[in-house]
Amino acid sequence: MIQRINHDGVLIVGAGLAGLSAALACAPRKALVLAAQPLFKGSSSAWAQGGVAAALAPNDHASIHAADTVSAGAGLVTASVADDITRRGVAAVDRLAAFGAPFDRDNKGHYALNLEAAHTFPRVARVQGDGAGQAIMEAMVAAAMADPLIEIRTGVSLKALLKDASGRVRGVLAETAAGLTEFVAPATILATGGLGGLYAVTTNPRELRGEGLAAAALAGADIADPEFVQFHPTAIDVGADPAPLATETLRGVGAKLIDKTGHAFMSAYHAKTELAPRDIVARAIHRQRIDGLGAFLDAREAVGKDFPQRFPAVFAACMAAAIDPRKQPIPVAPAVHYHMGGIAADVHGRTSLPGLFAAGECASTGLHGANRLASNSLLEAAVCGQLAGEAAREVADPGTAPLPAAPVSTLPPAAMATLREALSRDAGVIRDAEGLSRLIVVIDDLEAEHSRALPLVAARLIASAALARQESRGGHYRADFPNLSSPSRRTLINLVQQSAGVAA
Ligand code: SIN
Repeated sequence: MIQRINHDGVLIVGAGLAGLSAALACAPRKALVLAAQPLFKGSSSAWAQGGVAAALAPNDHASIHAADTVSAGAGLVTASVADDITRRGVAAVDRLAAFGAPFDRDNKGHYALNLEAAHTFPRVARVQGDGAGQAIMEAMVAAAMADPLIEIRTGVSLKALLKDASGRVRGVLAETAAGLTEFVAPATILATGGLGGLYAVTTNPRELRGEGLAAAALAGADIADPEFVQFHPTAIDVGADPAPLATETLRGVGAKLIDKTGHAFMSAYHAKTELAPRDIVARAIHRQRIDGLGAFLDAREAVGKDFPQRFPAVFAACMAAAIDPRKQPIPVAPAVHYHMGGIAADVHGRTSLPGLFAAGECASTGLHGANRLASNSLLEAAVCGQLAGEAAREVADPGTAPLPAAPVSTLPPAAMATLREALSRDAGVIRDAEGLSRLIVVIDDLEAEHSRALPLVAARLIASAALARQESRGGHYRADFPNLSSPSRRTLINLVQQSAGVAA
């Protein structure tokens, strides 16, 4: 027996920065926030070490931030989106601060700013060195919990979207402690985060497996650029799952990438050495490791004895693995960190389906292109989450009845492990047709055995788009097609139209 809960405000799936930014923008409407995991646990936002990128320095300007974003994105950033979001950056940081995010300040009270790769200026507003994500989320959770218009329910796992007979999204079907439940509302915002948990090596919470992306795709939403997965170059390589992160800011303050002989190797790969675009650093580290040379982040000189105070989260992760970064180089490896692709959405979260909005990492607005500029993700989550909340609160109740949605299956742990290994092996830092075709066979086999599960749908979107993109661009590198092709084009996929034989 499926129960139904009717909500007369905005339904939001996901309680990371995008979801809570949306919830806090819904007033005077109510917001019901659903999250699969306990607060803080299943959200990458809380794990972010860098901070929020915005043109906050006196000689910086949003147009320069937008230009850096376009340049990092390797030909696929939508310039008008980059302009729009970067222009809203300073206000977004101020809004987070007003909610209580304790950003570091200089002695004049201005935001203290970090430099990260491919940014022209230091522009990343940070908290206690490397604690931005946790501190921002603590402030947002406190603000949301204090707001009488916001209700948060955890332990609620998305299974499918609900639509009415006209195709309008009317809410979601979810698994709760009480069984399958339909949550019905005038407007639904997906803010379900990314999909690093589909890979064996990731810096994301393992629980993030592209469920929102997959459910939206099955409901017929347009999906953009799913092949573009970003690998963070410097996950700490100690065999942990998920892999702890060594923030890019360490390279921003002068930490070097060295091989096992102590040689600093980045000058062989890019003129900007350690601060080259993230995809280039990730591939360089991947190459070093394949060649048996090893890759280590050496912060002994740049940070040294100040490590515990300046980078407490990285220090704790290193020490937990018996590595003292004051005295030893940190072993590093690339790990899946961010999904540039997602549910095609504009900056207000509007998707191709009426009644459905998407914001944050599960959305693809065109801001990140083929390679996200560091710390633009919290910026996008804060800006687009707020805009999506403001847009969704205007949606009137259509009063229509949702049609029943068929829940998808759940993958057992062994099947999930097989999928994760296959994605890391065949849709990783370097891809080719042989590996991607092999991956699709693995997905076919898992689907034949376990029927269609949301992680399989998300994995297939990545694999098939990566196979179809016969070029190398940003985070997508094909050993068999190592060059850029021209003109650049975004991928747009619509599974429902595809299965009906209509081009997206
Ligand atoms: C980092 O701190 O290196 C991560 C920043 C980001 O991915 O935006």
